[in-house]
Amino acid sequence: MISFSKPAINYPRSIRPRRLRSTSTLRAMVRETELNAGDLIYPLFVRHGTGRTQIRSMPGVFQLSVTEAVREAEAAFGLGIPAIILFGIPAAKDPVGVENFAPDGIIQQAIRAIKREVPEMIVVTDVCLCEYTDHGHCGLLNAQDGISPPPGRSLPEGYVLNDPTLDILGKVALSHAECGADIVAPSGMMDGMVAAIRAALDEGGFENTPILSYAVKYASSFYGPFREAAEGAPKFGDRKSHQMDPANVREALREAALDEAEGADMLMVKPALAYLDVIRAVKQSFPELPLAAYNVSGEYAMVKAAAANGWIDEARVTLETLTAMKRAGADLIITYHAVDAAKWLKG
Ligand code: PBG
Repeated sequence: MISFSKPAINYPRSIRPRRLRSTSTLRAMVRETELNAGDLIYPLFVRHGTGRTQIRSMPGVFQLSVTEAVREAEAAFGLGIPAIILFGIPAAKDPVGVENFAPDGIIQQAIRAIKREVPEMIVVTDVCLCEYTDHGHCGLLNAQDGISPPPGRSLPEGYVLNDPTLDILGKVALSHAECGADIVAPSGMMDGMVAAIRAALDEGGFENTPILSYAVKYASSFYGPFREAAEGAPKFGDRKSHQMDPANVREALREAALDEAEGADMLMVKPALAYLDVIRAVKQSFPELPLAAYNVSGEYAMVKAAAANGWIDEARVTLETLTAMKRAGADLIITYHAVDAAKWLKG
């Protein structure tokens, strides 16, 4: 029998945090962080052809035809999601990835179609080489046809060349802007990528197109399902020569500072869930720049797998996770759960 009459523990009885948790209205009044559909950016994978193809490791996520992508963008916008981010799967790959900046490339077609049908939707485009190159790397490689290493330096075969890649990134970003992209988002972690893209955009007359830099992007194992989705896995090696070591946070501030100095309009930390401390640190050091967090494919796949087994409640876990990312300091969240989350938020 438990006795309620004589309290054994001494604590300040007049101070009771539970007073503010007694009803849902009161809890809502004192809530510190609010998650809204307007915070979300919805990633779409676009490919040639018709219809849609389910991505095996990302239930509910598809490779879409241009028509299907328009449909998906319309539905998302109707739910209050203000932006999509586009990833393209080209018809053919080569060492440079020429479809990346082709006027009729898959992304170029998708941007034009979405801006025509859903003009108010903010179209963000991922700017990288890895989905377009036959080797699957984020830049031009040493010892490929027609590409030589910077003078005076000997680099290992297969090393991702920095400066030759910058020219291509500038071309890609400009071609996206010419098709109507609202924001370009370089994700390749090349040094100087923001400056190169800013220069290319300005020269092309797009000085008003903002850059959302994947400023702090880790060499993470959480990208596994994305590489199936975008067919952009490296054919050999890894991305550790350019993406960050998961052990580092001070280096994140260095990357963010450089990108700000180069003219980035918004910053990103990626992945999100295992890097909430990094989101916090970047927000504290760069409070004036909008910060996005990328809730990546592996984070999505883990939730989906556990939910499919009935081990967790997908809606509640997802909203809790997204709220945590905002609480950590993210202003915007890129998430495959965007459409579902927007529906769940409506209740
Ligand atoms: C590179 C890119 C990647 C992701 C977004 N942009 C893959 C990589 O760096 O290997 C990963 C996103 C995710 O896992 O959801 N274009």
